Amino acid sequence: MPKSVCVIGAGPSGITAAKNLLDQGLLVTVFEAAGEIGGNWIFSETPGHSSVFETTHIISSRTLSQYDDYHMPEDYPDYPSHAHLATYFKNYATQFGVEKRIAFHTKVVHCKCLPDNRWEIITERNAVLQTHYFDALAVCNGHHWNPRMPSYPGHFSGRLMHSHDVKKFQDFKHKKVLVIGGGNSACDVAVESSRVAASVDISWRRGYWIAPKFLMGVPADVFSHKVDWMPRWLWQKMVKLSLRIRNGANTMYGLPNPDGPVGSHHPTINEDLFYTIRHGKIKPRPDIEKLDGNTVIFNDGCRAEYDVIVACTGYIITHPFFDKNFIDYSEGEVPLWLRMMHPDITSLYFIGLFQPLGCIWPGAELQSKIMAREIAGLWNRPSDIKNKIQQELQHPDFKQINTARHTITVDYHKFRKRLLQQLPKDYISKTPIYKLSLQDA
Ligand SMILES: Cc1cc2nc3c(=O)[nH]c(=O)nc-3n(C[C@H](O)[C@H](O)[C@H](O)COP(=O)(O)OP(=O)(O)OC[C@H]3O[C@@H](n4cnc5c(N)ncnc54)[C@H](O)[C@@H]3O)c2cc1C
Ligand SMILES: NC(=O)c1ccc[n+]([C@@H]2O[C@H](COP(=O)([O-])OP(=O)(O)OC[C@H]3O[C@@H](n4cnc5c(N)ncnc54)[C@H](OP(=O)(O)O)[C@@H]3O)[C@@H](O)[C@H]2O)c1
Repeated sequence: MPKSVCVIGAGPSGITAAKNLLDQGLLVTVFEAAGEIGGNWIFSETPGHSSVFETTHIISSRTLSQYDDYHMPEDYPDYPSHAHLATYFKNYATQFGVEKRIAFHTKVVHCKCLPDNRWEIITERNAVLQTHYFDALAVCNGHHWNPRMPSYPGHFSGRLMHSHDVKKFQDFKHKKVLVIGGGNSACDVAVESSRVAASVDISWRRGYWIAPKFLMGVPADVFSHKVDWMPRWLWQKMVKLSLRIRNGANTMYGLPNPDGPVGSHHPTINEDLFYTIRHGKIKPRPDIEKLDGNTVIFNDGCRAEYDVIVACTGYIITHPFFDKNFIDYSEGEVPLWLRMMHPDITSLYFIGLFQPLGCIWPGAELQSKIMAREIAGLWNRPSDIKNKIQQELQHPDFKQINTARHTITVDYHKFRKRLLQQLPKDYISKTPIYKLSLQDA
């Protein structure tokens, strides 16, 4: 009898988990809380799981953002929109028979590992609870949906919201808007709202590297990969130089320069932030000291009035279906080998629980293949998995600033190479850009 596997979520990670489990002849059930495939890429004006805006386009390019088993259509642009992505994921799921395995509108509310390593899963649908049993569990619930809100002394009398709840920018028409953060959400929200708002300010608590989407006419991630053969220090200097030639220093725009090298924080890819600042449509501000009615007091002593504050301050890794004393990765290190395997529980897998400098689902696809091969008995995890986890934690791909969002970072290419090392050699023929350099993973 083939083993049964529960997959939580039908986003980009969940559908590739299911596809690869089905490929190995396993019995797969996907529980999906929403009514559609695509996870974060389902744009809806109603607040829900998804965090994309009406204007979101992917920030990693098409070339490096496709499953090995299913490429994007040739007529997709270099940086497809959320609508392109949602269609791509639906087509993937249909093509590989995943759709038929999904129980939609079914939320997993509790997961318990039983003494024999099997799983008791409780789901909720239309307020009815149901208990199911499986041999293994693949957690693919995403990590960009539970807002991390900042807190400041004082009280703000205007509207304080998180970027997760930003859907359409017309909501900011004629409003005085303050955006907090220097990540991709913050820069997108500042630029897009500046087209309709009365004024837009952006508050950074430190300096960030802002990279364009294209360098020398080539998508920035493809360009960066072409010079990936360089030692890390030289690569960092080269990318820094190209950013300086392209943009100049942040201080020329009234923003702080980054403290660390390129890669010391998650990259912010934005073509329009500097341009919009220099057109007087966005005003840079430092960190916030306190709030007082509709006034914000910044740590340089300046004060300004706002109607709306949008905290683009990232997300908390959350697994609400596990007891907190069992698994809680909301803060600090995430001790999983290859970002997927638990040190003690061999029937538990996390797919997509990593933050690459690049796209998530090509890595999730390779994780899924390893998981499926192990459950099918075609591959065995190493016996010294705890040491391997410690090695990964002690030697991260990038030394990053110690802030909440930097606990699961991997280098896109190095991580893919580490995953490929666990797969049969003939699989590498599907990934020609990695053919030559597997040994340096
Ligand atoms: C604005 C924005 C833009 C982004 N742009 C990029 C980008 O350009 N490139 C990139 O690689 N990444 C990007 N990301 C990251 C994004 O998280 C990934 O692209 C991708 O969506 C991760 O896929 P996933 O399947 O792991 O998670 P998700 O897409 O979050 O999917 C998780 C699925 O699980 C379901 N689910 C969750 N909990 C339960 C439960 N208890 N029971 C049942 N179902 C459940 C959800 O409904 C959802 O369908 C972006 C994120 C944001 C917020
Ligand atoms: N495709 C797209 O166009 C697009 C758009 C948006 C987001 N995304 C992706 O979605 C994911 C989440 O991005 P995100 O921008 O929402 O979150 P994020 O990457 O976690 O960035 C959060 C930002 O807020 C800052 N911050 C956090 N807490 C703060 C506080 N208390 N006070 C001041 N600043 C604070 C962080 O600074 P520190 O560095 O100091 O912590 C960082 O600059 C990322 O993977 C991103 O690439 C993609």
